[in-house]
Amino acid sequence: MKVAVLGAAGGIGQALALLLKTKLPAGSELSLYDIAPVTPGVAADLSHIPSDVKIVGFAGEDPTEALQGADIVLISAGVARKPGMDRADLFNVNAGIVKNLIEKVATACPKACIGIITNPVNTTVAIAAQVLKKAGVYDKNKLFGVTTLDVIRSETFVSEMKGLLLKEVKVPVIGGHSGTTILPLLSQVTGASFSEQEVEQLTHRIQNAGTEVVEAKAGGGSATLSMGYAGCRFALSLVDALSGKSDVVDYAYVEGGSEHAQFFAQPLLLGKNGVEKVLPYGELSAFEQKAMEEMLETLKGDIKKGIEFVS
Ligand SMILES: NC(=O)c1ccc[n+]([C@@H]2O[C@H](COP(=O)([O-])OP(=O)(O)OC[C@H]3O[C@@H](n4cnc5c(N)ncnc54)[C@H](O)[C@@H]3O)[C@@H](O)[C@H]2O)c1
Repeated sequence: MKVAVLGAAGGIGQALALLLKTKLPAGSELSLYDIAPVTPGVAADLSHIPSDVKIVGFAGEDPTEALQGADIVLISAGVARKPGMDRADLFNVNAGIVKNLIEKVATACPKACIGIITNPVNTTVAIAAQVLKKAGVYDKNKLFGVTTLDVIRSETFVSEMKGLLLKEVKVPVIGGHSGTTILPLLSQVTGASFSEQEVEQLTHRIQNAGTEVVEAKAGGGSATLSMGYAGCRFALSLVDALSGKSDVVDYAYVEGGSEHAQFFAQPLLLGKNGVEKVLPYGELSAFEQKAMEEMLETLKGDIKKGIEFVS
């Protein structure tokens, strides 16, 4: 299994690479790429960690060498938020970066599973899909917007609020990956019940958890360490699935035939070819149904922006 990380010298990239170096199955290869000249040094640093994962680092304008033979490509290249910005403010810079990198993926490793971390995810995934379509290599079962951070935040906050063991907490999170488009389905949490006020407060906190970190870092960037963990968790789900493990279920933002929007985060059964099946997300409470209806215009607008950017 070869995993390539693009944007590997950044805050997320380095945390993600560190975790993958220690957690990928023995015999795997980790390939790091970033425009920053430090990237081969990041790989050299990580190479001293005793794990049976081969690691190489590439810097410069062209990621092709890093991508050759990759089974999974994780993209966190781009700029991050500063206080006062929302994810859509990153569009002007990050749209072009994702477009250029995906063009290289389309020629170097067109069959790889691609996980997009770069924000605004609601839009950058639509950009990636359009670029892959233009290149004639698009497989909707292999392109994912990584929304795992919303899932792990929901699990953590619910466990803290209700005093539940983390291993027992499961929170479906559907929709998109920004503000109100992030929809945690608290009505489906087992072993705890929430008052109306708790549902409102917790939903709001989950939707704004990224901003909580941006403000606490006071200009020093957005979530990097928790995102590194989330990215690793999602990548390991893909590794398991591509290696033939059955019953791998995870959440991601995909083009999966949702009745709500062209791209939608939902539970997925993963397999050797990426998405095997889009799974139902169950019944929504009245609060969740209303929140879903209210967010769709924003989500669809974000997707349209990405499609128009490429065409
Ligand atoms: N999906 C999520 O849940 C989630 C969570 C947090 C952050 N993010 C997003 O992830 C992205 C990265 O965040 P970060 O904190 O690591 O930022 P960062 O600034 O620390 O790192 C970004 C890296 O991208 C590199 N880069 C820029 N242009 C590049 C290019 N063309 N090719 C290769 N590398 C390039 C930079 O050199 C830098 O090392 C941001 O867009 C941020 O909004 C997503």
